[in-house]
Amino acid sequence: MTDASFEPNDPAEFAQEERDLERHGLHLELNRRTFLQTAGTFAASMALGVSETAHAKDVTPTVVRSVTLSVNGSPRQLSLDTRTSLLDALREHLDLTGSKKGCDHGQCGACTVLVNGRRVNSCLTLAFAAEGSEITTIEGLAKTADPRDIADLHPVQAAFLEHDGYQCGYCTPGQICSAVAAIEEHKRGALSIVSLHTGKSNHPEMTDDEIRERMSGNICRCGAYPNIVSAVRAVAKGGMA
Ligand code: FES
Ligand code: FES
Repeated sequence: MTDASFEPNDPAEFAQEERDLERHGLHLELNRRTFLQTAGTFAASMALGVSETAHAKDVTPTVVRSVTLSVNGSPRQLSLDTRTSLLDALREHLDLTGSKKGCDHGQCGACTVLVNGRRVNSCLTLAFAAEGSEITTIEGLAKTADPRDIADLHPVQAAFLEHDGYQCGYCTPGQICSAVAAIEEHKRGALSIVSLHTGKSNHPEMTDDEIRERMSGNICRCGAYPNIVSAVRAVAKGGMA
């Protein structure tokens, strides 16, 4: 029985079940229960407002270290808490606020940046893990440092403008970084689950289904998907990226 909703409520019955589990060598189940009990106790203490000092001895001390990040072609030296995410390093310490914090849990793609050309969720990447890599944010994609014309933009940025691939724009930096990498992945012959389902595993065409699947990690709350797909299709088919 693995569903927590079937856990016995009677403490004596619970203790007996634990003894039975231990006797039968079902330690994983026992550990899961211990975890649930501990997590439950913690959640209850938070809900009841138990003072922070009660947990203070369990809090990991802050460790600040120096790190050099190569961002948009320039080395940037920072002193950071070793737990700082790459997203927070970019936004809070380098004022590169193009990358957005949507969910902070790796679920929306708003924070997507390129690390050595590969798209990553910067909210799930430790800044220290990116040391030694080339980080490219939306601010570093254009052909010039101070773009004044659509021709100065990266082709994917220009395509998003031309195809109206955004509404509020909150998801757009992540969408564009993701599209840049997705087009490169396709050029290299990387497959998606759509390629496998359609059986087109020998350099599949960048169909709309391929684009939707390859961009599925980037959520748009405004529902600008049709125009985002048009923009990606235009660049992928035009070979402009
Ligand atoms: S903020 Fe990183 S995936 Fe949502
Ligand atoms: S354009 Fe508004 S969230 Fe995508």
